[in-house]
Amino acid sequence: MSDPYERSAEYLDIMIADAWQPLAPALADVLTGAEAKTGAVVDLGAGSGRGVRVIHDALPRTPILAVEPSVAMRAVLLARVHDDPELRRRVTVIAGDCADFDWPDGVRAVVALNMLGHLPPAQRRALWAHAARHLAPGGVLVVNIAPPFEPTAVERVRMAHVAVGQLEYEGWASARPSGADEITWHMEYRTLRRGRPLTQASVEYRWWVAPEETLAAEAAGAGLSFRPTGAPDVGLRVLTRIGGNDLSTS
Ligand SMILES: C[S@@+](CC[C@H](N)C(=O)[O-])C[C@H]1O[C@@H](n2cnc3c(N)ncnc32)[C@H](O)[C@@H]1O
Repeated sequence: MSDPYERSAEYLDIMIADAWQPLAPALADVLTGAEAKTGAVVDLGAGSGRGVRVIHDALPRTPILAVEPSVAMRAVLLARVHDDPELRRRVTVIAGDCADFDWPDGVRAVVALNMLGHLPPAQRRALWAHAARHLAPGGVLVVNIAPPFEPTAVERVRMAHVAVGQLEYEGWASARPSGADEITWHMEYRTLRRGRPLTQASVEYRWWVAPEETLAAEAAGAGLSFRPTGAPDVGLRVLTRIGGNDLSTS
């Protein structure tokens, strides 16, 4: 399978930094407020490891399994983890994806941020089912949602502009409908010196979209409640077992 992050990994970490400003405290609140107090935390599609850092800081002593399919993103992730002795002790970086990850039992929390749209509907439903089976009692699955929620076009917009040293980095995004429940993102990345492009890369990838009611209904079908948390514009949703019942023993 082709990796859309192969050519964009260079840009991803610096361009997702702003999104993590409100996301980090909101995620920390969910993690510290969860009823489950033991078990590992799984970060699915951990990317460059910004979520791993938040999980680490919010939950001292908790082991973290950082699952990331992209070799290029894993290189950034592993460098971030290796650089900090405490992260290095607690974080295990796993080359894999949602479909092939070997879930442990009694998971305290599963974090799947900025990645749900990568999952075709069947894989998304499998994620709900795995969480229902493997979460510890009182454990949480944390996802985020963002428009579009149906296959509509997204006008080209500059999503990030970052200066590092003498150079600037910018990212542009647009999308077109490409199926009954999917869009295709077209991403363009540029490195500039004093406004003049030095290098550029563009990538496209499929992104599955669904109205929130569909996600909530799928989750309910797997035995999970689906509720918003935190500031509305952050888009965080928390899934827990309906009634807190422990399906992992059923
Ligand atoms: C936009 S990045 C977000 C990274 C990180 N979660 C964050 O918020 O900083 C999406 C990540 O999901 C990963 N990904 C794509 N498909 C996946 C799958 N089927 N299972 C797990 N991760 C996946 C990508 O490789 C990429 O690192």
